[in-house]
Amino acid sequence: MNKKRITFASKIGIVAAAAGSAVGLGNIWRFPSQAADGGGALFIFLYIGCILFFGIPLMMGEFIIGRAGRANPSRSFEKLAPNTSWKWVGLLGVITGFLILGFYMVVCGWTLDYIVQSITGQLMTTENFRDNFFELQQSPFRQIAWMFLFTSLTAFFILAGVKKGIEQSAKILMPVLFLLLLMLGIRSITLSGAQEGLFFLFKPSMEHVKSTIFLDAVGQAFFSLSIGMGCMTTYGSYFRDDTNLRKTSVQVSLLDSMVAVLAGIVIFPAAFALTQSPDTIVSTLVAGGPGLLFITIPELFHHLPLSSLWASMFFVLLGIAALTSTISLMEVVTTYLHEEFQMLRSRAIILLSIGVAMLGIVSSVIPQFFNLLDFATAKIMLPLGGLFTSLFIGWYLDKNILRAQITNNGSLNISIGFIKGYVFILRYVAPAAIGAIFIYGLLF
Ligand code: PFF
Repeated sequence: MNKKRITFASKIGIVAAAAGSAVGLGNIWRFPSQAADGGGALFIFLYIGCILFFGIPLMMGEFIIGRAGRANPSRSFEKLAPNTSWKWVGLLGVITGFLILGFYMVVCGWTLDYIVQSITGQLMTTENFRDNFFELQQSPFRQIAWMFLFTSLTAFFILAGVKKGIEQSAKILMPVLFLLLLMLGIRSITLSGAQEGLFFLFKPSMEHVKSTIFLDAVGQAFFSLSIGMGCMTTYGSYFRDDTNLRKTSVQVSLLDSMVAVLAGIVIFPAAFALTQSPDTIVSTLVAGGPGLLFITIPELFHHLPLSSLWASMFFVLLGIAALTSTISLMEVVTTYLHEEFQMLRSRAIILLSIGVAMLGIVSSVIPQFFNLLDFATAKIMLPLGGLFTSLFIGWYLDKNILRAQITNNGSLNISIGFIKGYVFILRYVAPAAIGAIFIYGLLF
């Protein structure tokens, strides 16, 4: 099984596929609304702290487990820790992935709806972008139809195979999305009145701080990096033997955080500059919730020449970023079903799509269910998955395997001091911090 397992073909393809999983609606849709909800700058600093202190080490940890195990998350744990309960951590990840898909697909559906609205020119002629979004939210049938379509699209790409489907699409389109966001960011900060938005983003204030801010930031960091649920473990299992795991985790994490911060730079200055009543801006933002992106972005485009063209491009690219993430989420569950139940991949994908669509229907009709899935996955299951992964590497994993994975069997020149520091972080720092944040976040 080890020898035959498919691997990603090129080095750039590896980074692009992992970055394709990480960069998605989590960065461009969820990050701004979480940042608004968390009161702005303080949330963002905590989020960046989480990425640096446990996001990057944990991503590298998942790569290590995946490449050493060369199987789905559950089986990789089982191979590295035979006859122990660690395999349940892998299974927890698989379940988390399934539940994330249950609300994520709905937002993917909104994206498809906005693609069509932009291309037909209808979006830019709407009077009120807020009402336009609420109309969509109040139309379960429309949401369900788009969600179905996106689920089928994802299934199609996975059926096309690991290399062709994931690698090729991610390699070309991620840089285009980045450039477009960069241009939009420049437009947004040069609007008159944009300054307030930049203050909100980068100048910490204690005014709107909530007691759950730490857990919110950890949850967002894990969600955005696709860690805590075995997704990077699954991708790690496809890595080549000469892939530099340390470098890849740093590259992917930095790229991912850059996109999130860039999305903030697009959304907040525009929201502050373009909203008519400055008094209510913060409360509007805070209440923006899941709709923030779908309200502010069209407003920003409305102030540009060729608005429909830009809007179409934006939502198409957003849809593609979302697709590379849904592919990775589905891949985790598919590989699990395929390897654990000897199910044909095609059958696993169809079964999974039906399950996801059912969850998606409930999420479309009952917003509380949507919020529950978001809350349970990002704020409970991912932090728990991250905590267990870090304990596994810090305390359990054979250090010879760890060293062999980090140095690619001695061929990379990585100091022993680095490896010791790495183990220290995953043994003590990350579990203590994640554990404390988790308990504090849930109790207060
Ligand atoms: N990281 C993706 C995003 O930010 O949109 C979402 C995601 C993908 C979460 C894959 C978890 C995962 F395993």
